[in-house]
Amino acid sequence: MANGRKKIAVIGAGNVGATCAFVLAQKKLGDIVMLDIFEGFAKGKALDMSQNAQILNFDGNITGTSDYADIAGADVVVVTSGFPRQPGMSREDLIGKNADIIKQVGEGIREHAPDSVIVMVTNPLDLMTYHMWKITGFPKERVVGQAGILDSARMIHFVAKAVGCNEEDVSAMVLGGHGDTMVPLPRYTTCGGIPITQLLDAQTIEEISARTAGGGGEIVKLLEHGSAFYAPGSAAAIMAEAVINDRKRLIPASTLLEGQYGLEEVFIGVPIILGAKGVEKIIDLELTEEELASLQKSGNFYKEQLRDILGY
Ligand code: NAI
Ligand code: 2OP
Repeated sequence: MANGRKKIAVIGAGNVGATCAFVLAQKKLGDIVMLDIFEGFAKGKALDMSQNAQILNFDGNITGTSDYADIAGADVVVVTSGFPRQPGMSREDLIGKNADIIKQVGEGIREHAPDSVIVMVTNPLDLMTYHMWKITGFPKERVVGQAGILDSARMIHFVAKAVGCNEEDVSAMVLGGHGDTMVPLPRYTTCGGIPITQLLDAQTIEEISARTAGGGGEIVKLLEHGSAFYAPGSAAAIMAEAVINDRKRLIPASTLLEGQYGLEEVFIGVPIILGAKGVEKIIDLELTEEELASLQKSGNFYKEQLRDILGY
């Protein structure tokens, strides 16, 4: 809290970080600090955004920095610092470089914003969220990863196009890791409350699930440089908003499992309630044997990576 206003820090002022800050500013949630390893880059983006204040009617200050002292008192810290995918790369190819960045960032947050809720975005998401939890030593509730809102929104878009309805009327649930093992759940996907199994044939649903799981890669290939950022940055902002305004959003997000869904000691996407305290509840969703097996396969894949590559 600063000047009676809430404070949100966004680490990494690149494509995802700047988009997140831009969405947050329009939501008038409080002061926004963008921190990047390149000070001028963060300051330049903050000044540009600040000059949008009258045009888009922002409240609060938007500042840029490379000094962690400036994130002091942040209620929420959104972490987007790190390398994005390039064509031909999987998210897991980013592990080594991004783990070093997250270590540095985590130490800065631990020292200067020890009471914050951290929303992780850096890839590979589920591994970097676990890594951040370990580096900061924060309670598990206060470190959460953004993937489920984005992956579900991608599925929602494809479903809306196939049905010919508005995205607003579609609700979807995508669980598991933010990668090739993600688990779209058509059984929990509805249009205006109607299960999509009554609106679309099995093959179309299968194609939508596959396109959802490859959604990030499809954009990487089209862009040729870097990865998606409009929907990812907005999704992270929605999570920050849920914390700042204690919205109790029921969303899929990467959280520490301790026996739920038969998984332990791994961060993976499951339905949670997100509010002022961070992850306030993990929802126990009824899954078929096949759905549960897919979720466990995804969780075990990341457990192996945590052990074999990050040494946990
Ligand atoms: P970008 O390259 O545009 O921005 C990354 C920023 O991080 C750069 O400005 C860079 O200077 C900064 N940075 C690097 N090291 C730093 C450090 N030690 N301290 C502070 N800042 C540092 O990349 P983009 O597109 O914004 O992606 C950021 C990350 O988000 C990537 O790892 C990407 O894979 C991930 N991502 C995750 C998604 C998700 O759903 N979880 C979706 C989209 C991207
Ligand atoms: C995405 O899903 C690459 O994680 C990034 O767009």
